[in-house]
Amino acid sequence: MRAVVFEEFGKPAEVREVPDPAPAEHGVVVRVEATGLCRSDWHGWMGHDTDIVLPHVPGHELAGVVEAVGTRVTGWRPGDRVTVPFVCACGSCPACAAGDQQVCERQTQPGFSHWGSFADYVALDHADVNLVAIPDGMAYGTAAGLGCRFATAFRAVVQQGRAAAGQWVAVHGCGGVGLSAVMIAAAAGARVVAVDIAPGALELARRFGAAHCLDASTVPDTAAAVRELTGGGAHLSLDALGSPATCAASVDSLRRRGRHVQVGLLPSADGTTPVPMARAIALELELLGSHGMAAHTYPGMLELVRSGVLRPDLLVTSAVPLDAAPAALARMGEAPGAGVTVIEPWS
Ligand SMILES: NC(=O)c1ccc[n+]([C@@H]2O[C@H](COP(=O)([O-])OP(=O)(O)OC[C@H]3O[C@@H](n4cnc5c(N)ncnc54)[C@H](O)[C@@H]3O)[C@@H](O)[C@H]2O)c1
Ligand SMILES: [Zn+2]
Ligand SMILES: [Zn+2]
Repeated sequence: MRAVVFEEFGKPAEVREVPDPAPAEHGVVVRVEATGLCRSDWHGWMGHDTDIVLPHVPGHELAGVVEAVGTRVTGWRPGDRVTVPFVCACGSCPACAAGDQQVCERQTQPGFSHWGSFADYVALDHADVNLVAIPDGMAYGTAAGLGCRFATAFRAVVQQGRAAAGQWVAVHGCGGVGLSAVMIAAAAGARVVAVDIAPGALELARRFGAAHCLDASTVPDTAAAVRELTGGGAHLSLDALGSPATCAASVDSLRRRGRHVQVGLLPSADGTTPVPMARAIALELELLGSHGMAAHTYPGMLELVRSGVLRPDLLVTSAVPLDAAPAALARMGEAPGAGVTVIEPWS
C-alpha cells in the first residue's frame, strides 16, 4: 500500500510503498477513505511524542471501511463503515472498567504508538471496544473528524467543561478543535467568545455561533478582553491551541469558580508548562484536561449530529490526495489556515 512515511523528526515526509498491515486477533484493518490533518500529527512529526518510533506513518483522525477482521472480533465485518476514537482502549484495565476508555492504561493510538492513517490502510486494535459505526448518509470526510477533534471538543465542552445554556465560554485557538468547540458550546446555548490570530478562523467561528471574536494578533491582553466582554469572566474556557500563552490566557479569562479545560498539547523541553495557579486558588478555579472521547459515549453526540443540531460537515474546508499530505503537514508549522483539511487516499 501507499503511506506517508518520515524517517526523521521535522524532515520532509514522503509517500512510498510499504507492506499492507494485517489485523491483530482483536483488531481490524480499515481502508482509509478520509483522514484529517490534526495539529497532533504535526506535533508527532516534530518529535514531541515520545511514543513514536522511526520510521513512522502519521494519521489518527480517520474514517473508512473495514477491510479485514481479526479472528477474535465479533461485532464487525468487512464492508462496515467506521470511525474510531484515536485513543484505542484495551477494554479491560481499571480505567476501561470504570468507563474511562479515553485514558486507558494500555491504550494504543494509530499514528503515534503504531503506524497511522496517512495511508491506504490502517490497523486498529481492540475493534469491539473502539470502533464506531458511521451514521448512514454521513460523508467519510465528516466522519473522520469524529475520530479526534470533533469528539475531543465535545468531551471538552460537554463532558469535562459542563457548558450550560446562558453561560459564557471562551475558546482560545479556533482550528479544528476550537471551531468544533465553538459550534458545540453555541449549540448548548452558551455564549461564545472566540480567540484566534487568523481572520479566516474567526470568520468561521462567527458563522458557527460565536457571539464575539477576538483577534489575538491585535488585542494585546485577550484574557482581559474576555473578562470585559463577559461581565467578569467566562464560566468555561478552553486552550484549544496549546501554548504557554494561550494556556495562561484561558485560565486568566475565567470568572470565580470557572473551569479551564486544556485540550491543546503543551510540548516543552522539561515537560512542564507554567499555569497561573495563584488565580486558581484565589478564584477557586477548576483546571481540567481532556483526552479524546470514549467510544461508548458517542451515541449522545451522534444523535445531535443526526438531528442537525451539530454540523461537523461544515468544518471541512478542503480535501487533498495522499500525495499532498507531506507538504500539508509541514505547512502546519507556518501560516495558520482556517477550518479542517482532510486527506482522501483513494481520491
Ligand atoms: N487533548 C486531545 O485529546 C487533543 C485532540 C486533538 C487535538 N489536540 C491538540 O489540540 C490543539 C489544536 O489542534 P487543531 O488541529 O485544532 O489545531 P489547528 O492548527 O487546526 O488550530 C490551531 C488554531 O490556533 C490559532 N492560533 C495560533 N496562535 C494563536 C494565538 N496566539 N492565540 C489564539 N489562537 C492562535 C491558529 O490560527 C489556528 O486557527 C493541538 O495542540 C492538538 O495537538 C488535542
Ligand atoms: Zn484499558
Ligand atoms: Zn487529533
